[in-house]
Amino acid sequence: MTTIQTQPIEGQKPGTSGLRKKTKVFMQPGYVENFVQAIIDATGGAEGKTYVLGGDGRFFNKRAAQVILKMAAANGAERVIVGRDALLSTPAASNLIRKRGTDGGFIMSASHNPGGEDEDFGLKFNTSNGGPAPESVTDAIFARTKDITEYRLLGADDADLSRLGEQSMGGMVVEVVDPVADYATLMESLFDMATLRAMFAGGFRMRFDAMHAITGPYATEILENRLCAEKGTVINSTPLPDFGGGHPDPNPTWAKALMDEMMGANAPDFGAASDGDGDRNMVVGRGIYVSPSDSLAVLAANAHLAPGYAGGLKGVARSMPTSGAADRVAEKLGIDCFETPTGWKFFGNLLDAGRVTICGEESFGTGSDHVREKDGLWAVLLWLNILAARGESVAEILNAHWREYGRNYYSRHDYEALPLEQGQAIMAGLRDKLGDLPGTEVQGMRVKSADDFAYTDPVDGSVSQGQGLRVVFTDGSRIVLRLSGTGTEGATLRLYLERYVAGPDGLDQDVQQALAPLIAAAEDLSGLRATSGRSEPDVIT
Ligand code: G6P
Ligand code: ZN
Repeated sequence: MTTIQTQPIEGQKPGTSGLRKKTKVFMQPGYVENFVQAIIDATGGAEGKTYVLGGDGRFFNKRAAQVILKMAAANGAERVIVGRDALLSTPAASNLIRKRGTDGGFIMSASHNPGGEDEDFGLKFNTSNGGPAPESVTDAIFARTKDITEYRLLGADDADLSRLGEQSMGGMVVEVVDPVADYATLMESLFDMATLRAMFAGGFRMRFDAMHAITGPYATEILENRLCAEKGTVINSTPLPDFGGGHPDPNPTWAKALMDEMMGANAPDFGAASDGDGDRNMVVGRGIYVSPSDSLAVLAANAHLAPGYAGGLKGVARSMPTSGAADRVAEKLGIDCFETPTGWKFFGNLLDAGRVTICGEESFGTGSDHVREKDGLWAVLLWLNILAARGESVAEILNAHWREYGRNYYSRHDYEALPLEQGQAIMAGLRDKLGDLPGTEVQGMRVKSADDFAYTDPVDGSVSQGQGLRVVFTDGSRIVLRLSGTGTEGATLRLYLERYVAGPDGLDQDVQQALAPLIAAAEDLSGLRATSGRSEPDVIT
């Protein structure tokens, strides 16, 4: 065992979901080592502990895995359970952490950010509940990165991560497991596999775009091998270190090929995509896109049709910028609906306390209490289960949903990689005005309330400030502006727009047109386009 002297490295502050930087930053000498030692130190040491380790297969994944193993061994860990070839989707890692009763896990991923030597890498720590470390823990990790003086690393050969089974590294056991097996078993326990198999056997066609990322092997095993969907249902199914040069982010912009197929003449019945590490999802019906906020609402309203949720839901939760569509479902079901800051970690306490069953975010994340991460394939399988049980198309289900609950027109406009100061200045400009806005009129709409969202966790009472600026109008429409916490370059501003139409008229408008007054109001209030000199957003979801 070697103890190596080191010095703090600046900027190792975990963001919305772990530490994300350019891969080359992570490749600097001591960078991974410092951060991993800080995690270990801030969580009470590794002595006698068992961890899970895996990642989405991006460039530097295997190298980082060896470093983490050698550090865990040098710090006295008893066992590390690793996915073969250091692969594990984020939900599969969460499942293993829980199922095996471990002390937590290291997940190597920058999620939906591109991968490769010139792109992004990331590392995050999940606690023993299987969820991303809460802010109290990430704050302690960051504090430790600022006063770290040494790290421990075992001088040993690399572990052979291609070989299933146990091997030893110093006094520690490295247990290499099939990354898919336990996860597939979990999915089979939640969904009506026989009915799904019958649906595919009856000619139901789907397309799953794995975007050359981690869900390829999971989707192939579950959809093609176990549910007998047609071979070729899963495309781009081999995980590649650079995701084939693409942007593994399942949204209409980055999964454009899938969108085009679903809007085309010979579209299959159902389309879906997942992101780099497998926790996000996009679902598309034939000729109809499902916004993530609507997806959450439909899943909440219909989850009882799947065996795993037949007993009903305890409650639902959504992040603040996510539309209020799920709130209407919760109201009708007579269950609680919680509004949390952006970031899956904020759902952890609610899930652990048994107060919610299903959670979701506008950022293409949905999940349930089966793990403590959002789960892309889970959402796809729940949709399939609902389609099979109702015997209706995605379009029929969405239209019926809007007729019943009204429609929350919703869109997010992203302005990416603005100069940091500019992004902060635009935020500060609007923040300074908030107090004066209530009662005033913008674009013919009267402001009801305006604030910088703060959240008090109902379980542990912890408070999170500064979680996004929101301006709510008297008709329930709203504008939310916040800075992304996951970017690695400059500042990304996200503008979230929402307008509710009760129906029965006006339920089938073009989304951007329906939101036009809000888009104009947002510009009046924030001067976002004028200040940034950008005439339109980079990404619209
Ligand atoms: C990650 C987190 C999500 C979060 C999303 C958007 O995917 O796991 O919980 O909603 O990032 O974060 P951002 O700060 O970029 O809007
Ligand atoms: Zn992800």
